[in-house]
Amino acid sequence: MVDPVHADCSASSTAFLERHLGNTDGIPDVETMLRAVGAASLDALIDEALAPGIARSQDMALPPAVDEDAALAELRAIASENRVCKSYIGQGYYGTRTPAVLLRNVLENPAWYTAYTPYQAEISQGRLEALMWFQTLVAELTALDVANASMLDEATAAAEAMAMAFRLRRTAGTTFLVDAETFPQTIAVLRTRAEPLGIALRVCSIEAMGNGDAMAHGDTTQVPDAAHAAGVPVTPDVPVAPDVPFGALLQYPGASGIVRDDRDGIAALHARGVLVIVAADILALALLTPPGELGADIAIGSTQRLGLPMGNGGPHAAYMACRKELMRALPGRIVGASVDTHGQIAYRLALQTREQHIRRDKATSNVCTAQALPAIVAAMYAVYHGPEGLRRIASAIARRTAVLAQGLRELGQTVVHASAFDTITIDVGSASSSIVERALAAGVNLGVPTMPDVHDVHDVPGTLAMPGLLRIALDETTTDADVEALWALFAPLTAPDAFRYADVAQRASTLLPAALERHSSFLQHPVFHRHHSETAMLRLLRRLSDRDLALDRTMIPLGSCTMKLNATSAMLPMTWPEFADIHPFAPAAQRQGYARLAQQLGQWLCAATGYAGVSLQPNAGSQGEYAGLLVIRAWQRAQGQGHRNVCLIPASAHGTNPASAALAGMQVVPVACDAQGNVDLDDVRAQCARHADRLAAMMLTYPSTHGVFEDGIRTICALVHQHGGRVYIDGANMNAMLGLCAPGEFGGDVSHLNLHKTFAIPHGGGGPGVGPVCVAQDLLPFLPGEPGGIGPVSAAPLGNASVLPISWMYCRMMGARGLREASRMAILHANYLSVRLRAHYPTLYTRAPVGGKPGRVAHECILDLRPLRDATGITAEDVAKRLMDYGFHAPTLSFPVPGTLMVEPTESEPIEELDRFIDAMVAIREEIAHVERGEWPRDDNPLRNAPHTAPTLLAASWMHPYSRERAAALGRDKYWPPVGRIDNAQGDRKPRCTLGAMGEPA
Ligand SMILES: Cc1ncc(COP(=O)(O)O)c(C=O)c1O
Repeated sequence: MVDPVHADCSASSTAFLERHLGNTDGIPDVETMLRAVGAASLDALIDEALAPGIARSQDMALPPAVDEDAALAELRAIASENRVCKSYIGQGYYGTRTPAVLLRNVLENPAWYTAYTPYQAEISQGRLEALMWFQTLVAELTALDVANASMLDEATAAAEAMAMAFRLRRTAGTTFLVDAETFPQTIAVLRTRAEPLGIALRVCSIEAMGNGDAMAHGDTTQVPDAAHAAGVPVTPDVPVAPDVPFGALLQYPGASGIVRDDRDGIAALHARGVLVIVAADILALALLTPPGELGADIAIGSTQRLGLPMGNGGPHAAYMACRKELMRALPGRIVGASVDTHGQIAYRLALQTREQHIRRDKATSNVCTAQALPAIVAAMYAVYHGPEGLRRIASAIARRTAVLAQGLRELGQTVVHASAFDTITIDVGSASSSIVERALAAGVNLGVPTMPDVHDVHDVPGTLAMPGLLRIALDETTTDADVEALWALFAPLTAPDAFRYADVAQRASTLLPAALERHSSFLQHPVFHRHHSETAMLRLLRRLSDRDLALDRTMIPLGSCTMKLNATSAMLPMTWPEFADIHPFAPAAQRQGYARLAQQLGQWLCAATGYAGVSLQPNAGSQGEYAGLLVIRAWQRAQGQGHRNVCLIPASAHGTNPASAALAGMQVVPVACDAQGNVDLDDVRAQCARHADRLAAMMLTYPSTHGVFEDGIRTICALVHQHGGRVYIDGANMNAMLGLCAPGEFGGDVSHLNLHKTFAIPHGGGGPGVGPVCVAQDLLPFLPGEPGGIGPVSAAPLGNASVLPISWMYCRMMGARGLREASRMAILHANYLSVRLRAHYPTLYTRAPVGGKPGRVAHECILDLRPLRDATGITAEDVAKRLMDYGFHAPTLSFPVPGTLMVEPTESEPIEELDRFIDAMVAIREEIAHVERGEWPRDDNPLRNAPHTAPTLLAASWMHPYSRERAAALGRDKYWPPVGRIDNAQGDRKPRCTLGAMGEPA
């Protein structure tokens, strides 16, 4: 058992806390802030901020904090319980070489990993351009017109594509055909995602897909060799109601390694009005005819093998590309080109009206945080190697695979297919287990095809191996000697010298089908040709990151985002080989370190939230929401209440909430807020009563998205429970609650957390994230990963596993007291900003004032700029852009209330930085006063023209009524915005989301 919290007071237990907090209790700066806010003490302030009756009943049970060295040593011991083997499992995860220049200067570089999602485009030009390269890479390798800026993993990308095809369907059909060659984990996630949408999955062979009768009747009894070899069950010959398929997913190359020419099959599917999605291996496309040329409408896949370690399953960037006619139905973020006020090309997020933050339950997807950092690594890998380099790497893999297959045949083995890129399946009959055991003893993992015959394919009894088949997938790291060692596993009695790679190679011919050779060029843009030296790459990365504002330069006071310190010591372990080089489907015995890490972290998260159990699988907050709602749905079914499908969601909720509810098959019913910004209790009462028979859940954020600990929370939870619903508390704002109150104690049944907020995983410029879903005792059996649970929501059992050590380190170094102190400081800082700025920008919502003191906010505050807009025409957006001139990333703009800025300073900022921000905001208010007094026109002032670039300030003529000095907002370490205000509307009229051969947006 862990020690009680009170023991947590040794010098070493506070060592990291002092590094993490910008200010610590008892120091003069805290006294200054308390005086400013008019609180007698920090305890008194927290009492005034917290709603009555919600304080924790007991302290969090976490082990006492240790310092950075001790935490790293402990984690090393845990990591050593993982066993790094050579993995030839494939199935979407491969060994890769991360170029050192990318490892050090992107993956391990805070200028890249501490950046936020590029909503403020003018200060995000570096990563936006890098994401344009990612999109260009994907679009050109797949030969489709447009690509988005990443998806969460290959399996969820397949599910998103299925949902996209469903939205676009031209028939009343509800059947989705799935190639029997599809990776099992993809099929498993498709199953989870299909059912709430009313989609019937049919796993069958490509031959059966192309056959109209088979499609109508599900007659897929002819299990082709390929399907058998892929290890995937084929829908049995049971009579099914005739239904017209609307979409089909093909895997290319297949899971068994087969490289099929599916042109005819795709044409036959098209002839029946079926949209075709191809899940393609991105590296194979350097050599093979791309999906677009085969006729696919949509392509999806993973870019993991472009430089990102396997990491036990993630994080990696998945991709999605489509024909341009389908572009407006694409899920996820898309970067596009536009122009700034000076007419120069600038990048920003395009077509946002598709996304959850605007369209809510009508959005194309619930995806918010995606995989920006892994996408940038993949893009840079392509930039560094160029098209020729990619071809070289892919050719070397294909060549070794052919030699491997040749050798195995010569050794008397049965290689199932005549075609291959990197994977071969061998039918070894009864020798299978002895070969696998021999391999394991030699530190080698062979692929053992599995079939997802139960809900969850991960580590679940019932996941059946296909008898007699083994699979070997090679990758960039495989050497000639590795191939020789593989042969030895299959023929242990053959003398090593008798069988040499160089000799066999002479007799081997390519296994790539000639008809599928790629002839079209790709990556013609100059960036893919000019950065092949390390010097050039280093400077490119520096040039790009210099254009952006990340946490390594300034506070990023984004409300609802918790941009806190991402401690360097916590960042170190993710690239240790014991964490990085683990295949997610390696035998469980090799992943014991991960299992222990997950068990400990899970236990700490339960202690923090007051829930009984957790799944760490969801790889973003949105996925946690989705999983949590499915858990509620599954529980209700188990109670015979499966008809319940209404989800109450306050109007102020984050867009992912309604979007997730819609994906989970629920009907979203909005609940009003009252004049104080609180959830309107009368409306909750009325809606609960109106929907009493069908109430499934209420989903609300706490503290509210308005930044307040609402007093009515316990009443709301009780009302929902009385009417048969469960309460989903969005835990994205957990940073206000650690050690103070716990959603599982004050009435919540389910919460997701955003580890990429509260638990110190960096935002990576828009991902990766981790969105664990925590649940009450009676919901435990329904979690993903449980045998009778909702099924997997991510491709890998532990989702974005390799970033979990970051949160582990954070908790271990903070301990219960540290985490509590973090929340208390976060609340103090928010109240300090709110009070100091009150005379200039009033805070919109607070708890009702007590005893003549100002009303308190939680860990963030909404500054109301609407009166200023009405008086001067200056908008919150103008202030956001002007802050860039002052060297700040703007607070959250117009969420949850249009025309406002929501500020969340976090606990990590020192008072100097808080004051610098306050000074900038006050200086900007003075500028607005000039407009108010009529001294500067409404349409020509430093706010309306912000941000100001260096060239505009140095131009020969200066025609504005304010000085160049004023415009520059010169200060120490001046940041120069690289572009002027970007024209969003222009960019969306004719979206250009890739870069052409001349470097121009296309
Ligand atoms: C309140 C709230 N809920 C949910 C989310 C979604 O989390 P993610 O972006 O990880 O999907 C966010 C993200 O900003 C949020 O602020």
